[in-house]
Amino acid sequence: MRFDNKREIIDIIEYYMHNDTEPLFAAAREAREPYYGKRIFLRGLVEVTNYCKQNCFYCGIRYGNENIRRYRLDKEQILECVRTGFELGFHSFVLQGGEDSHFTDDIMVDIISCVKEKFPDCAVTLSMGEKSRESYQKYYDAGAARYLLRHETANTEHYQKLHPTQLSFENRKKCLRDLKEVGFQTGAGFMVGSPYQTIENLAEDLLFLRELKPHMVGIGPFIPHKETPFREFPSGNVELTLIMVALCRVMLPDAMLPATTALGSVDDNGRERAINAGANVIMPNLSPYEFRADYALYDNKLSTGSEAAEAIAAIKKRITDIGYIPDLSTGHHYTHNVR
Ligand code: 5AD
Repeated sequence: MRFDNKREIIDIIEYYMHNDTEPLFAAAREAREPYYGKRIFLRGLVEVTNYCKQNCFYCGIRYGNENIRRYRLDKEQILECVRTGFELGFHSFVLQGGEDSHFTDDIMVDIISCVKEKFPDCAVTLSMGEKSRESYQKYYDAGAARYLLRHETANTEHYQKLHPTQLSFENRKKCLRDLKEVGFQTGAGFMVGSPYQTIENLAEDLLFLRELKPHMVGIGPFIPHKETPFREFPSGNVELTLIMVALCRVMLPDAMLPATTALGSVDDNGRERAINAGANVIMPNLSPYEFRADYALYDNKLSTGSEAAEAIAAIKKRITDIGYIPDLSTGHHYTHNVR
């Protein structure tokens, strides 16, 4: 598979939608093997704010949702979450949030520097949306090593069906380019089964990723949220999501691919199935308990049980039970083994 011809990719996706996926998943596991062996990397996820100035049609924390209790963590609370994770053995933390104007560059730089000062042998990943290149540079200089910004869909018209007019795929691409140029290990990604998505769009996502060559790719099913314009749309298909994870692994064999919370939320075995299809990262939740339900990007989002970082023993067991090795190191992409 060369992944350079849209028609061919569409045919491959459609083939596996109607045939046994095991050969594809085996190819994905084989592609992963030389880079990561059986290691599954764990990252502690801290959801720092559910305030968001954006109004993405699919997302439960969109600005227009008035039926939500908004919260933001302060520096001490964030440090406390990281400390909890560190004591559980984590060395990799993701600070994720809506696009919240409260978190100015100065505040972010202070938070990142403090985390790095107190936990110098840990990696900090940010996922805070679209910012200027200057802001990204400041975060990087403060010690953040990675940034997650899903491209959501690589088709301009489809992008516009998922987002208000102020947001554009053009700017998304610019942000992703800026992040890479600044030096971040950069994560892109998309939802499977988002409203109006076609198989051709999925092929376009793969073509886009092939060109961008991100270090990480988050792929999860779309799940409707009742307080969004997309409340009536069905969830994305789990099998198709796994097919996209596997194709992504075959195409980008050295990428960090999470078994996403969304997959775990629609299928009790979603994360195991994603690992079987080529994923190699799990991001358990370290947010304070009292706010977890408020960070609802979609309905029935998992944040407890074995999605919770506190259940580290259960999470490790689920990984070892399927023949893999939990890895709590920083888990840098091998091309960026630095900070
Ligand atoms: N279903 C699935 N994933 C969603 N996200 C946001 N809303 C939803 C939803 N309704 C994903 C987006 C975003 C990431 C943080 O969560 O892809 O980039």
